[in-house]
Amino acid sequence: MASKAKKPLTDIAKLTRPQAKVEHMRLALELEAHDRRYYQDDAPVVSDAEYDALRQRFNAIEKRFPELVSAESPSQKIGAAPSGRFRKVRHAVPMLSLDNAFAEADVRDFAERIQRFLKLADDKIDFSAEPKIDGLSMSLRYEGGELVTAATRGDGAEGEDVTANIRTLDDVPQKLKGRNVPDICEVRGEVYMTKKAFLALNRKQVEAGEAPFANPRNSAAGSLRQKDPSITASRPLGFFAYAWGEMSAMPEETQTGMIGWFERCGFRTNPLTRLCHSVEQLIAFHRRIEESRAGLDYDIDGVVYKVDRIDWQERLGFVSRTPRWGIAHKFPAEQAVTVLRDIEIQVGRTGTLAPVGKLEPVGVGGVIVQNVTLHNEDYIRGVGGDGELIREGRDIRIGDTVVIQRAGDVIPQVVDVLIDKRPKGAREFHFPKKCPCPLHTDVVREETATGEEGSRARCTGEFACPFQKIEHLKLFVSRRAFDIDGLGEKQLQYFFDEGWVKEPGDIFTLQKRNSRLKLEEIEGYGETSVRNLFAAIDGRRRIALERFIFALGMRHVGETTALALARGYGSWEAFHDACLKVARGDEEAIAEMDALDQIGDTVIASVAAYFGESHNRGIVDRLVKELEEIVDAERPKSNSKVAGKTVVFTGSLEKMTRDEAKATAERLGAKAAGSVSKKTDYVVAGPGAGSKLAEAKKHGVTVLTEDEWLKLIGE
Ligand code: IVH
Repeated sequence: MASKAKKPLTDIAKLTRPQAKVEHMRLALELEAHDRRYYQDDAPVVSDAEYDALRQRFNAIEKRFPELVSAESPSQKIGAAPSGRFRKVRHAVPMLSLDNAFAEADVRDFAERIQRFLKLADDKIDFSAEPKIDGLSMSLRYEGGELVTAATRGDGAEGEDVTANIRTLDDVPQKLKGRNVPDICEVRGEVYMTKKAFLALNRKQVEAGEAPFANPRNSAAGSLRQKDPSITASRPLGFFAYAWGEMSAMPEETQTGMIGWFERCGFRTNPLTRLCHSVEQLIAFHRRIEESRAGLDYDIDGVVYKVDRIDWQERLGFVSRTPRWGIAHKFPAEQAVTVLRDIEIQVGRTGTLAPVGKLEPVGVGGVIVQNVTLHNEDYIRGVGGDGELIREGRDIRIGDTVVIQRAGDVIPQVVDVLIDKRPKGAREFHFPKKCPCPLHTDVVREETATGEEGSRARCTGEFACPFQKIEHLKLFVSRRAFDIDGLGEKQLQYFFDEGWVKEPGDIFTLQKRNSRLKLEEIEGYGETSVRNLFAAIDGRRRIALERFIFALGMRHVGETTALALARGYGSWEAFHDACLKVARGDEEAIAEMDALDQIGDTVIASVAAYFGESHNRGIVDRLVKELEEIVDAERPKSNSKVAGKTVVFTGSLEKMTRDEAKATAERLGAKAAGSVSKKTDYVVAGPGAGSKLAEAKKHGVTVLTEDEWLKLIGE
């Protein structure tokens, strides 16, 4: 079979959202397959370098499109590293897991099994009862009292060497305290992140344009699996010691004794751990911890019972991969039954309309829940994201009795509707066609990557929608847009709340209005900072076209697309004129925009929606009036052989993607058009070229193969 030359990959900055979504999905599957081969089958089929390149591309896509991150993403999985791989470490003693108990009866069975196994008649068995921390387990090997290796659990037999990163944790001593510590000590326990630190980290991640983590456990894993230990050091990770691996000598005879020894060595252990003398005490412990669960600052998903006497633990041993001497008594998913009083629509940061269920307040796992997310229109109807029925197709109506669930820290969900409790007057919910914002703009459903109607509904009000305004303003002043020094998010929010800055143009009239506003009297401001602020604002009255276009905050128009538009039209006047025409549905203007490199239907639709709203047009006009100059875009390189020529690509290209071919042509000063006309200079035809090739022949246009084109442009 002839091997096909690999197409170069599209620059991530140039990916449209739908393209990114498809590629993200493809890479996720590929990475998962490689991870499986590497971690489970021990038979990788790619080199580490190739794997790293895939993962880097995947991470870069998630960084640019954080909304693609889900709990299932390989970036969030424990069995995969966010950047590169770590050396493998074989555990001297395997790291196994615990069997689960869910009901009290399972706990009684567990204790009876032990009693029978040990053939104990009246001897009482003591158990250590400990919270089950929802983090990731770690094995720390000390030789001569010094930390030598820290390894993740991995598949239980082999983990990954994260020593450099673990050394940055305050809870992990580099050297064991105390005299006469055994020569070899493997201390095991759980690395975790507090809920507070997790929330703070996610806020920072989002601010920095990074993908947020799904839960504290993933954020702890992600923080630990960094190639650069300084990143781990910047993340607040904790460690509780609770078990051991290889020990050249045992310093204690019981589990609780070992916990005391860990403390003497300099470790932290969980303060809720107790010694229990009966099954009743274990069950009471479970109940007590479950009650206090919501108030703890770290996630736990159950409690663990362990036979306290280590000699008994040794006699009991393991059944396949779980010990006979220990069990995890899990907490049930926190559920409650209540009545759905109403459904409200909230407009999110990016204009997404989120239906929120208003509940008859109910306690779930120690917290009172009044609101529940209903995701989107389809979810309410009983249809999931993949078109499959959820809740067996039962829809949610106002007045329904619903079962809600809180899993860990996540926002409560409706898991079921009790149809037999549905009252006569239960009302079907009609998803609004107009946004609830004061503008009542049209609501549209987003398209999926394959161009089908998606489940998310959006407000089209963009800049004019008060809910979206402040977010757009933040983008407007950000470093990549107008980059106004001294006008950070905090100040902007203040000005917005006071009604002093309602839209971008208002920023430029602050100085004129200051005799009334008196910014220098605001706490934290002074004469100098106000003077500096006004100077910074004035300094931005002259702005490059691409920055200006980006700052408008049109959906799907990121920096790269803004640059493509700026280069395509050259001046603000030309661009503005084209946008107004596109919004009116002018076919020629649409075709012209479509012919631009990197610009396709999604961007055109977004431009049309934006300039189709008179509020947006007003905002843009008022802003432009305040500026001195919108600087024309830099014209593409013009000394190439194809500068000023018009080229059409058709058929399938083998050495590059269509987008890439267009980008190269544009970069060299050529215009990449979508259709062939008399004005076309070259048609580059690959296999499968059809009507455009025929058109070229009709007009006598030079037809080139892909290789001839590459030769012409010298690549
Ligand atoms: S003892 C033989 N104690 O739960 C395994 N595990 O399913 C001995 N965990 O992989 C583990 N808190 O990550 C133990 N107090 C605790 C724990 C605990 C959390 C985790 C650990 C382990 C998993 C077992």
